Amino acid sequence: MTDEEVEEVKEALLSGWITTGPRTKELENRMADFCGTQRFVCLNSATACMEMTYRLLGIGEGDEVITTAYTYTATSSAICHVGAKPVMVDILGDRVYEEKRYIGHSPYEPDYDAIDEAFTERTKAIAPVDIAGVMCDYERLTEIAVSHADEFTPSENRIQKAINRAVILADSAHGLGASRCGKMSGQAADFTSFSFHAVKNLTTGEGGGVTWKKIDGIDDEDIYHDYMILSLHGQSKDALEKTEIGSWEYDILYPGYKCNMTDIQAAVGLAQLRRYPDLLKRRRELISLYDEGINRINELLEADAAAKKALPVTSLAHYTGDSTSSGHLYLIRLGSLTHEERSKVIVRMAERDVATNVHYKPLPLLTAYKKMGFKMEDYPRAYQYYENEITLPLHTLLTDDDVAYVLDVLTDAIRG
Ligand SMILES: Cc1ncc(COP(=O)(O)O)c(C=O)c1O
Repeated sequence: MTDEEVEEVKEALLSGWITTGPRTKELENRMADFCGTQRFVCLNSATACMEMTYRLLGIGEGDEVITTAYTYTATSSAICHVGAKPVMVDILGDRVYEEKRYIGHSPYEPDYDAIDEAFTERTKAIAPVDIAGVMCDYERLTEIAVSHADEFTPSENRIQKAINRAVILADSAHGLGASRCGKMSGQAADFTSFSFHAVKNLTTGEGGGVTWKKIDGIDDEDIYHDYMILSLHGQSKDALEKTEIGSWEYDILYPGYKCNMTDIQAAVGLAQLRRYPDLLKRRRELISLYDEGINRINELLEADAAAKKALPVTSLAHYTGDSTSSGHLYLIRLGSLTHEERSKVIVRMAERDVATNVHYKPLPLLTAYKKMGFKMEDYPRAYQYYENEITLPLHTLLTDDDVAYVLDVLTDAIRG
């Protein structure tokens, strides 16, 4: 946070308008410009954006949504919130090194063949996740959805009817500003959700946004309007519209939800978005420092018998041929360390004030999903990639010296 955010928030607070209003609308317009899309909706979280999108699409009870086991619960919770069934697939994992067709793909992308196989006549959507800000292969996902179009029976929902195949709803909570094959995150999937949660690249404290590709036969303004009604009690006019002269009257079309963004949040977002190109640039610099450092660690520890099991240290590639990530998370994996050994490295690093994290504990390891019948053994690559993963600190207040310190501490922890 800088004085820019502070000034914007101060102006919002003193403007006489603190809930959804002119600043939220401005942020939506600027986000659409940034993503290269026509329309953008800001709500109070990415989770709400995903849930409202399923509702907009009329997806619910009796429907299935194919998603990945390697994500944060929000991806799957939103599916459960609307009463649909999450169907999880494994990740690509080491297949990206073993199969030529996956060169340049991230191992954390979903296993596209498994998605293809998971299709049933109840599949209404696919929810891939752009882990760490690296975009999935949306061309492949669209091909898969199109190839199953003849099994797809739309409900009465007009958007389902217009798309007439499973909808691709990207969880790009991490991916604002990423691109792949010349398309920005937001332009590649049918619908794309972003998170502006406190730890995300661009934050509004809490918040999220959703954008979509043009759908033949559907007016973007109608979709925008539907999101507004869904996210504000089913009310036919929002607070700003009601302030227009003679416009006090409103209707409630159905008992809707309440997940709008406030203008205070939008004020933070507006300042963050102005700074965002510089923030993305700094992330890229930090990632390149980490990448060089990881190479050095592998060389340095090559002959060190005590370190053998933790080698090689590998890191997720963020900037490859046709893919530019948003540089959200720096994921590394430590050779063939077990879960317990990985935890020791985390503790040793924490003892020297380096806070690391693990992204992610696959969903089938969590109580909620175990209770639904998901079993970790059905997702061996997700487990393999989770077991020895550590996420190093990555944020724009890190100095080059901080990165060097993190790498030193990591080296010592591995030696230990
Ligand atoms: C992959 C992923 N999806 C969705 C979310 C949910 O975002 P929000 O907290 O804005 O609802 C997160 C947040 O951490 C996330 O990491």
